[in-house]
Amino acid sequence: MKNPAPQTIYLSDYTPPAYLVDSVHLTFKLGATDTRVISRIAFRPNPDATSKEFFLHGQDLRFIGARIDGAPITPDLSAEGLRYNAPDAPFVFEAEVEISPSTNTSLEGLYMSNGMYCTQCEAEGFRKITYYPDRPDVMAVFTVRIEGDLPVLLSNGNPVAQGEGWAEWHDPWPKPAYLFALVAGDLVALSDSFTTRSGRKVDLNIWVRPGGDEAKRAFGMEALKKSMAWDEEVYGREYDLDLFNIVAVDDFNMGAMENKGLNIFNASAVLASPETATDADFERIEAIIAHEYFHNWTGNRITCRDWFQLCLKEGLTVFRDQQFTGDMRSHAVKRIDDAMVLRAHQFREDNGPLAHPVRPDSFVEINNFYTATVYEKGAEVIGMLKLLVGDADYAKALDLYFDRHDGDAATIEDWLRVFEDVTGRDLRQFARWYSQAGTPRLTVNESYADGTYQLHLRQETPPTPGQDTKKPLVLPIAVGLLNENGAEVVPTTVLEMTQAEQTFSFAGLSGKPTASILRNFSAPVIVKHDKTNAERAFLLAHDTDPFNRWDAGRTLAQDLLMRMVCDNATPDTGFLNGLAAVLRDDTLDPAFRALVLRLPSEEDTAQALFDAGHTPDPAVINDVHETLKLHIAQHLQDTLPRIYADMTVEGPYTPDAEPAGKRALGNAVLALQSKLDGGKAAAQQFASADNMTQQLGALRALLQIAKGENELAAFAAQWGHDRLVMDKWFALQVSLAPADQAAATAERLTVHPDFDIKNPNRFRAVFGGLRVNTAGFHHRSGAGYNLLADWLIRLDPLNPQTTARMITAFDTWKRYDMERQRKIRVALERIAGTSGLSGDTNEMVTRLLG
Ligand code: PHE
Ligand code: ZN
Repeated sequence: MKNPAPQTIYLSDYTPPAYLVDSVHLTFKLGATDTRVISRIAFRPNPDATSKEFFLHGQDLRFIGARIDGAPITPDLSAEGLRYNAPDAPFVFEAEVEISPSTNTSLEGLYMSNGMYCTQCEAEGFRKITYYPDRPDVMAVFTVRIEGDLPVLLSNGNPVAQGEGWAEWHDPWPKPAYLFALVAGDLVALSDSFTTRSGRKVDLNIWVRPGGDEAKRAFGMEALKKSMAWDEEVYGREYDLDLFNIVAVDDFNMGAMENKGLNIFNASAVLASPETATDADFERIEAIIAHEYFHNWTGNRITCRDWFQLCLKEGLTVFRDQQFTGDMRSHAVKRIDDAMVLRAHQFREDNGPLAHPVRPDSFVEINNFYTATVYEKGAEVIGMLKLLVGDADYAKALDLYFDRHDGDAATIEDWLRVFEDVTGRDLRQFARWYSQAGTPRLTVNESYADGTYQLHLRQETPPTPGQDTKKPLVLPIAVGLLNENGAEVVPTTVLEMTQAEQTFSFAGLSGKPTASILRNFSAPVIVKHDKTNAERAFLLAHDTDPFNRWDAGRTLAQDLLMRMVCDNATPDTGFLNGLAAVLRDDTLDPAFRALVLRLPSEEDTAQALFDAGHTPDPAVINDVHETLKLHIAQHLQDTLPRIYADMTVEGPYTPDAEPAGKRALGNAVLALQSKLDGGKAAAQQFASADNMTQQLGALRALLQIAKGENELAAFAAQWGHDRLVMDKWFALQVSLAPADQAAATAERLTVHPDFDIKNPNRFRAVFGGLRVNTAGFHHRSGAGYNLLADWLIRLDPLNPQTTARMITAFDTWKRYDMERQRKIRVALERIAGTSGLSGDTNEMVTRLLG
């Protein structure tokens, strides 16, 4: 009953629902092991249906009884749901089922987290609550009654009535079941309000369990109000209920969930105080609050027809939260951050066995497609569209999208059509971005003669699983030309490349220019451009485009790291001087300088080596990275203390971009300084820190030089009571352990009394920490592979979704040597051979094994 046979679902098989739902009434009689769910659902035949079959999804439900129009029925029950020969006319279906929230460790459906009931229904969790057509194109108005002896009982929409031990809620907006939510617990709210521009007063609450988290709610509330104002100003979108609730839960598979009027957040994605959260946490929380809030229009008011269209809501909502963060903080820094994330996660996905298009055309388990490709590449596709049509037409197209599709379950075709209708463009070729997987390589050749500069561009996308041949894409390529003094002779121009090979000319120049190509990362491609290091250093010093300025430094560093690995090269003074010049340039934003100082990751170097035809050795890469850091520290020796002192922030802590940038640069400098002073400055910063950014930055600097034993203990003594802070403590030790001790460190932490396999944050702290310790995870002993496999096998029966996400740690395995590949294969086959393996993990391990 538990694991229905895996079935592949195809986009091309979509058929409309046989029945539509007009209204849903749910009654919950809460009990930890015996919650009764009583449903009353008004169905009517769908005039557009192609089938008349009445089928309701249902999973892990104890069937008590069902009726149609008041008469008891005996439906066909299976592991997937309920079938019945229902009337071909409107009728009322009623059912009663029993479920057991306290034993539901999958964290999908209705479950318990530290005494509190909560739900997670996206994508297909509602079927674990009651029998229902659990698909996003069935939208209905929900009325919910909750009975339970807990003080706070919440659901979507507005409260309609309540009494001792019960509450009733009504959500006037028709919604798919995946947006349903219920929360019940002993909770306390931070309350505030926001008045929309048309004068509607909206009550806002952030709910936590009492006992420590109360002081961590204020920042999230400010972020929520900023998000509400921003969506009105920039997209003209107002909130549409009188109440907006956010609830923090400790056990959650993802970051947060946009349930209508009742967002549920992983505590780590909403709770923050200066003492317990880093600047990066604050920024992430602001972005996630915005993201979930923005879903109210892009996701909830306009939802997806089916789960293949997931990027319709996710790509757009990520794009919107990126714009928001840029507006709140720095566009340049945000663009660099986003490109780093895309390259680290999405390019990685494209390069391995898990590659898939932004809109996949088949899946077994939809949970496995909440990926960097759907989210982050999905957002890039929207950014390209905006660049191609221009800001004004983008705004018009979005207005048309909201006008035309409000209340719809829409498709990517609908989305593209509004752009075609507004601009008159034919977007058929552009649409390939949604169906074609893989990262395009853009090869650049240049020539110059008689005042004319020519760019010869070639695009090519390598094959991905199931897609051997690729077609040319529409690439918006932002280019600027600089003269030898660093002055811009051709300002940023967007070239529209549509062919596999294309040449673009710039005439009337007085000398050979230096080209700055793919400014602001105008398309999610890999640029192959045989520039000299002198040209790169020139761009690092002079480019007016901050993204390309940073990227020039990045490419220089990557090139150097590869030469150090392959040819035993030593760091050249040209590179080191270029870095020093940026570091010392006080006119530059400290956040930007911190980014330039940050080297590519060991993972980046491994991929770059593989792309260049080498077999990367994680141990060698680790050595080389450490060596380069030491060289940089020595070269900058005289400058580091001054910059560190300059980065001192006066006054009380605020998480704003400006002081955060200073702390980021201060911590980057401290890490280098520690290589020279044996950790003296870091120990001092640790001892005097009054905020988590500096406390953790110091601890990281110490662990990186294999010191900090006492500080780790002091940290645990200080923060043992705080789950979110202790997650950092668990993660840091594993991620920074010396390679030969990484697996042993992780294993030791799994027997720590505070390790809890059922808590995804804690599991991710330890095993996500292991995964990012590239040299440790890939240590030639295979200990990292074996340990992760052991724990994934243990986690799978409890929480398939998190297991299936964590198994992606293995997705780069084909780039390594035969011995490592053999060890990984053994680990993967051991997982694959586990009896009763979940469908989620089974799909992933099958794809990984190819
Ligand atoms: N829809 C959520 C978001 O993007 C993510 C999510 C997916 C959360 C599935 C839980 C389960 O904000
Ligand atoms: Zn989302």
